[in-house]
Amino acid sequence: MEKLEKLYEGKAKKMYATDDPEVLWVEYSNQATAFNGEKKEQIAGKGQLNNRITTVLFDLLKARGVESHFIKQINETDQLVRKMTMFPLEIIMRNVAAGSFAKRYGVEEGTELKKPILEFCLKSDDLGDPFINDDGIIALGIATEEELAEISRQAREVNKQLSDIFSKIDVKLVDFKIEEGKTSDGTILLADEITPDTCRLWDQKDHSGKVEHLDKDLFRRGLGSIIPAYEEIDSRLEALAKAE
Ligand code: C5P
Repeated sequence: MEKLEKLYEGKAKKMYATDDPEVLWVEYSNQATAFNGEKKEQIAGKGQLNNRITTVLFDLLKARGVESHFIKQINETDQLVRKMTMFPLEIIMRNVAAGSFAKRYGVEEGTELKKPILEFCLKSDDLGDPFINDDGIIALGIATEEELAEISRQAREVNKQLSDIFSKIDVKLVDFKIEEGKTSDGTILLADEITPDTCRLWDQKDHSGKVEHLDKDLFRRGLGSIIPAYEEIDSRLEALAKAE
């Protein structure tokens, strides 16, 4: 597989064309950003860790019947994925109140939710990823009613399977963001990445009652280095993948 011209550079990944029109080459970078790019840092080793973590998670999900755009990891920082037309949506699932949800509704962070919450934001750096509801998505032509129903079904299934995966490694899946797209034949699939950059992961091994963050909140909130936390997630997931 040949790596051709750069198509897109995001905050934490670069995407390249390949000699196969249906396949993209993704390179995970060391850049960490928060608050819509206002806080930005290069963190050595982050790209490799996220490439490994998302690879294990896409493989574990596949074994549980959840397909994605992921094809294979090709080196420490790079992987091949299926080319998709992305829905410009940040698809957020929440199991525990945290982050912007806790702030918006004045709920204490850590409050267990009575049911998982599915939220959508329009993906737009210029607009600051504003909240959008189902009617807004359909009215603006971002997805049809049928497409939105399938996106929602998949998001809830990903939450169910991912929550189970993380519970097996003593980690609480508090919330996460995924993205979805369509292949050239119209199949809707999970895409983008699933990493501690895009999930809130709280360690359940610590019994002191204090939240132990194993995710990007360490960087967002200036609580310490993300690398040991991402390494911990990676090693627990790799052990689970071997055992399964
Ligand atoms: O900030 P907020 O509480 O809305 O984030 C919810 C979840 O979505 C968190 O797990 C966060 O890591 C993820 N997220 C993301 N990219 C964004 C916004 C949120 O991965 N642009």
